[in-house]
Amino acid sequence: ASIFTAGFAGRRPVVPSSAEALERAALRRMGGKARAYIAGAAGLERTAAANRAAFDHHRILQRVLRDVSARRLSVGLFGRTLPLPLLLAPIGVLDMAWRQGDLAAARAAAAEGLTFIASSQSSVPLESIARACGTGPRWFQLYWSSSDALMESFLRRAEAAGYEAIVVTLDTTQLGWRPRDLDCGHLPFLRGRGIANYVSDPVFQGLPPPEADPGERPRLGPGALPSVLALLRAWPGGTLQALAAPRQVMQAVQRFIALYSRPDLTWADLPRLRRATRLPILLKGILHPDDARRALDAGMDGIVVSNHGGRQVDGAVASLDMLAPVAEAVAGRVPVLFDGGIRTGSDVVKALALGASAVLLGRPYVYGLALAGEDGVRAVLQGLAAELDLTLALMGCPGLDGLDGSALVRHPAA
Ligand code: FNR
Repeated sequence: ASIFTAGFAGRRPVVPSSAEALERAALRRMGGKARAYIAGAAGLERTAAANRAAFDHHRILQRVLRDVSARRLSVGLFGRTLPLPLLLAPIGVLDMAWRQGDLAAARAAAAEGLTFIASSQSSVPLESIARACGTGPRWFQLYWSSSDALMESFLRRAEAAGYEAIVVTLDTTQLGWRPRDLDCGHLPFLRGRGIANYVSDPVFQGLPPPEADPGERPRLGPGALPSVLALLRAWPGGTLQALAAPRQVMQAVQRFIALYSRPDLTWADLPRLRRATRLPILLKGILHPDDARRALDAGMDGIVVSNHGGRQVDGAVASLDMLAPVAEAVAGRVPVLFDGGIRTGSDVVKALALGASAVLLGRPYVYGLALAGEDGVRAVLQGLAAELDLTLALMGCPGLDGLDGSALVRHPAA
């Protein structure tokens, strides 16, 4: 209601209210490399487009005369009651959008009472993000490193910093083929700005330097300065010490490249992860119902249906199209979360109706961040919450519990 009232009083919103205008404004504001990294996707970006198009294949079927004067949007997840079925997706290298963007976004999430999922590839260490969350809910997204000791160290740190669940992302055994990034020629420096968790980790610091591989050695060009500065800021012991030891800084980047992913992971490795933490574990990047069943067999506590915003496999199935089959396989035994293309309140409604317990918001919050920092993220979250609330009221649905596939009609053209 306050959003409408402000509008009538002639006050403009902090960021544009339509998802498309928000994206356009943010893309205009960002530099070329940030634009490529954030808006870009794999290959010809067909899966990123399919993620969006999939929402048009479902239309909402409204009901009338159903007393919608009081709406319940809250949802229970792992012992917490959240005000909305909406979490902030893990996004790496938020420094690209806003200086110390992880902290601004985490503060915005906490102010709205929403869960912030901190990325392994954050631009500041996970402990700083936890402090920015204050008492707000936070989860940690883990890339399973090729060093189990490092992976376990991340888990220890996340537990100590008060993270409440671990999201293990499995669709990134290698970085996808992302032409926009490649054509900017800045991938190594991206990594430099997104390795704060690594350089601040005692296990990482103790690992031997990788074998010299000249092909992988990052070369510093003029565009590298912001990346190097961000890396120095995250360096343990301070900037001065890092400046005194540029070789160690460069070695850290190389070491990160060698350690960041573990392409030989299989289902047989999951018991080790299960034993390594007492926190709930969710697997992110699940699209096949059989993989969802295997996750349950391995004692996992939740699933995130996701194709990484179309950034990994170009031509992959739209994330939304696999939500109902996965939810059916899970049959309510654990929460099924969803991401990929959520832009409006009605998108959230459709995902919930197809079986999601809650959704993750990706690029739109980063666009809010790029435009107005913490205030911009809050404005995006508030706008989406208001639109979700209105949509539920107007479709005759007073609460999320009554929302299922019967609220949707498959669009004939699909
Ligand atoms: C991501 N995503 C992501 N996922 C993850 O598990 N760890 C990460 O570090 C990142 N980093 C990242 C950076 C950027 C710039 C984007 C756009 C995405 C994927 C993210 O969590 C989520 O799956 C998608 O963003 C959802 O799609 P939409 O909402 O952006 O369409």
